[in-house]
Amino acid sequence: MGKNILEVRNLVKHFEVSKSVFSRNKKIVKAVDGISFDIKAGETLGLVGQSGCGKTTTARSLCLLDPKTSGTVNFNNPETSKMESIDEIDDDGIRVFRRNMQMIFQDPYESLNPRWTIKDIIKEPLDIHNIGSLAEREDAIVEILRTVGLTPPENYLKRYPHEISGGQRQRVSIARTLVMKPKFVICDEPTSMLDVSIRISIMDLMLNLAKELDVSYLYITHDLAVARYMCNRIAVMFNGKIVEIAETEELLQNPIHPYTKRLISSIPIPDPSYKRERYEINFDELDKIISNNTDEQMVDVGNEHLVATHDTKGFFIET
Ligand SMILES: Nc1ncnc2c1ncn2[C@@H]1O[C@H](COP(=O)(O)OP(=O)(O)OP(=O)(O)O)[C@@H](O)[C@H]1O
Ligand SMILES: [Mg+2]
Repeated sequence: MGKNILEVRNLVKHFEVSKSVFSRNKKIVKAVDGISFDIKAGETLGLVGQSGCGKTTTARSLCLLDPKTSGTVNFNNPETSKMESIDEIDDDGIRVFRRNMQMIFQDPYESLNPRWTIKDIIKEPLDIHNIGSLAEREDAIVEILRTVGLTPPENYLKRYPHEISGGQRQRVSIARTLVMKPKFVICDEPTSMLDVSIRISIMDLMLNLAKELDVSYLYITHDLAVARYMCNRIAVMFNGKIVEIAETEELLQNPIHPYTKRLISSIPIPDPSYKRERYEINFDELDKIISNNTDEQMVDVGNEHLVATHDTKGFFIET
């Protein structure tokens, strides 16, 4: 694994919401509240945490779908091979960034235009970024359909999203993303809407493509078992903050933060004779401590295993 492809420092995304329809008072939702991480070339970093902890908001801010509130995001511009801040690059730089930073969404049906054929769907990003001649675009579409296992490609080009299965639709979104040959892809729960039987084949497809095309992923999931299968490292998120990051097996074998322990203790193990510790924690208390520690640092306990420093005693509920 090589140098960093992405460096995120103190990323913050707050939303202002009205307290009620009739009220002028605003409330701030701290969806993402100062998170930092790096992703190396060819690496998959998992972002795990319960519903509402800020995973999708992180993804949308990184992809420039929503403007971040503050923080810095540096990316390795493949055209200059230099780390560049997305706030300081010109329009050309932004175009390069957008081309190299793609996103795969959870719902393959919603993310594909139902009125377009599969060929048009995959061709659109090539048209937008004006990549290759018309003939080269056609060739690229056929080739990528083959790569994602939709063969023979001629059978799919003229079909519409409703004419193929859910798993095939997700393959089309992956094809649409990878036809751009991006360096970095954010996957937001890409398999959670699919049948279990199809899930594993899509995950294998993404792992193979990462190797073949040298792509890095930020892989968002609430499922630690999926993260274990897919990711080199895992970042655990709780209410807008990252509380622990480590290499995957290190995190699963030696979790330190109570929230990580709680997550790991809830992964089902198929062996009924296996007895293990169950952790329950006081989520309200944890939330209070985390939101009060605004300038908190992550400490490295060794082997690039980073943990939030707040005092975590007292979160455990005896079970
Ligand atoms: N556009 C918005 N306006 C106001 N609040 C928002 C907006 N988008 C997200 N939020 C809030 O930000 C928080 C984080 O939401 P987000 O969608 O990032 O969570 P998530 O971790 O992706 O959850 P899930 O696992 O359910 O997809 C939530 O409290 C959510 O209600
Ligand atoms: Mg989400």
